[in-house]
Amino acid sequence: MRKIALVNQKGGCGKTTTAVNLASCLAGKGRKVLLVDLDPQGHAGFALGVKPDQIEESIYEVLSGKMPSSEAIKTLGKNLDAIFSNVVLSAFEQVMAGVPEREFRLAEGLRDIEEDYEYLIIDCPPSVGLLTFNALMACDEAIIPVDSSAFSVHGLAKLLETIQLIEQQAGHGLTFKILATNVDRRTNFSNRVVETLRARFPKNCFKTGINTCTRLREAAAAGKPIAAYDKHCAAFLDYQQLMKEILRQETKMKAKSFALKSFVEAKEEGKASVEKEVAFMIEAPEDASVQIAGDFNSWTPESLHLTHSHGRPVWQKAIRLSPGLYQYKYLVDGRWVSDPSNKKRADDFFGGKNSVINV
Ligand SMILES: Nc1ncnc2c1ncn2[C@@H]1O[C@H](COP(=O)(O)OP(=O)(O)O)[C@@H](O)[C@H]1O
Ligand SMILES: [Mg+2]
Repeated sequence: MRKIALVNQKGGCGKTTTAVNLASCLAGKGRKVLLVDLDPQGHAGFALGVKPDQIEESIYEVLSGKMPSSEAIKTLGKNLDAIFSNVVLSAFEQVMAGVPEREFRLAEGLRDIEEDYEYLIIDCPPSVGLLTFNALMACDEAIIPVDSSAFSVHGLAKLLETIQLIEQQAGHGLTFKILATNVDRRTNFSNRVVETLRARFPKNCFKTGINTCTRLREAAAAGKPIAAYDKHCAAFLDYQQLMKEILRQETKMKAKSFALKSFVEAKEEGKASVEKEVAFMIEAPEDASVQIAGDFNSWTPESLHLTHSHGRPVWQKAIRLSPGLYQYKYLVDGRWVSDPSNKKRADDFFGGKNSVINV
């Protein structure tokens, strides 16, 4: 079975849309597919017309060992099965605190159905927490959708670092491929993002990009995969193309190692230590729009507020951070800038530099 996780800590970049439509295209091509929703928001269910209150047996029951995966599976159509999730899953991290090997719950839970499917497609939540670790440990491949119409490329460095760490510390090899989504070929910005991604990761980008297509939103709202909603729109053709690219990569499943030390435990030990308040500040004109984005907020820009120092306009924000290394950048009037008062920088993977702070 090929096991693929859709992962990116950024919300709205097309994880669920890709999980649902890739699963549906593969099933349409005759592959036996199991789609697993690992996001407590349950969007994959919504996108396939399954409401949260219709979900009695969810992935939570499987992860918590209350139910074998075979009992939580719903059949959606020919070749396509799914295990859905709902809000109950948000308790998972807390319930599992301190439980050894909790990052292998999903891999363990799915082991008994391993022979029944050719593809496992996992839709991850928009964070790199215990659920996403479970997905990465249960998979051999990660697809990272990057919304090329937004600033979501800036979280990539952190995500790739996490994948690298999983490989180094947990001994679990994971290949990744970046998928440009929401590509709007009419805008320079979108084209530039796609070009930069391909130049920076020549071996790790899909040739296919998913164009912006409102039919995708409509299909999700109607609870249907795009193949069942509109077979003539750009998005259907794009997802077909993506499926073909994935089929071409069909390779032997990699052997996996389960003899690991707890990577999540190591991360959580760090988290448990005392948080510190860090004041970020940058000088910029009074009428500027000034935001900050970094590893600490999943690269979702947050506004700074205007203060004055010696009569000069200074924008600032205090953020509580646990000890660790963080990369960040300011966004001044829509332009990314490194922190001029911090000389510590790291390659942002896109030809620029992120500022780095060690808390
Ligand atoms: N290529 C696209 N064109 C237009 N809308 C899209 C596209 N991909 C995703 N969307 C829409 O964007 C929103 C976020 O997508 P989603 O797949 O839910 O992201 P994520 O799972 O990463 O949070 C949804 O409303 C979805 O319908
Ligand atoms: Mg989603």
